[in-house]
Amino acid sequence: MTRPTGEPGPYAGVSRTAVVIAQAREAESARPDRLFDDPLAGPLADAAGRVTGISEAGRRAGEHFVLRTRFFDDRLREATAAGPRQVVLLAAGLDTRAFRLRWPRGTRLFEVDLPDLLSRKEKVLADHGARPACDRTVVPADLREDWSSPLLAAGLDPGEPIAWLIEGVLMYLTPEDGARVLCRVSELSPPGSRLAAEHVNRAYAELPQMRPAMSRLAATQAAWRSAVEDPREWLAGYGWRATVTHQADLARELGRPVPAMADPRAVGAARIWLVDALRDGGRPPGAPA
Ligand SMILES: C[S@@+](CC[C@H](N)C(=O)[O-])C[C@H]1O[C@@H](n2cnc3c(N)ncnc32)[C@H](O)[C@@H]1O
Repeated sequence: MTRPTGEPGPYAGVSRTAVVIAQAREAESARPDRLFDDPLAGPLADAAGRVTGISEAGRRAGEHFVLRTRFFDDRLREATAAGPRQVVLLAAGLDTRAFRLRWPRGTRLFEVDLPDLLSRKEKVLADHGARPACDRTVVPADLREDWSSPLLAAGLDPGEPIAWLIEGVLMYLTPEDGARVLCRVSELSPPGSRLAAEHVNRAYAELPQMRPAMSRLAATQAAWRSAVEDPREWLAGYGWRATVTHQADLARELGRPVPAMADPRAVGAARIWLVDALRDGGRPPGAPA
């Protein structure tokens, strides 16, 4: 099934953006020099209703989705090699890391997303006989509500370190909802926990090159609602010691062209933040005032 950009598919609003990302992962998986292999991305996009008519800006965003996928693959590998055996993907979307990455023995992975997306995803995975490479649990929940009670009920142990991934969702939440999510993540995370996350700054959301994409997202009830200007300071406020990777450096490191949207000559101070953070336990959790 295919749907032109702008028409609501079986997934509505922000959930539909997960389909665009799955399509980018599928395309990357077909490259001989692929940065990862995601054989389930195509079937998941098919079942969700493919997005067609992707604009030039959308194609450029695809380059970013690929780089960030590999970036977070590597962060989760490092995190679980360093200790945590619990992994939580907040707003997992059509992420298939539970199936395609190698996990240390005993890894338990939780995927949190909206109920409709997860029930459709589970059907596709079951139809394809997909077998996770870890102990995988899906947790249908809304990040704007109480998502941690169902996560704890599903077996997350806040007494043990956790590796969190918050990829491709914070910009869709209001600052207040994002702060509540970070606050709860931090409360649940003992020292030794890791947090990998993506956010953007306001200049990025306001780039003239982003205007068509922003209008399309707004028209599909997926407007960006928040931004962060200093990700280190932002996460330090919740008790995390963060390092930030520049997309352009990441592209060079991975042997790919620097995406136009990451070239400082083209975008000035606009940034997508790729963040990796360690919970050092030195500060009490809590949202900054
Ligand atoms: C851009 S996709 C990113 C998916 C995935 N993290 C990835 O990078 O492939 C955004 C995801 O956020 C989920 N999402 C949006 N709002 C949410 C909310 N309030 N609660 C839970 N999930 C939400 C959507 O369903 C969608 O899967």
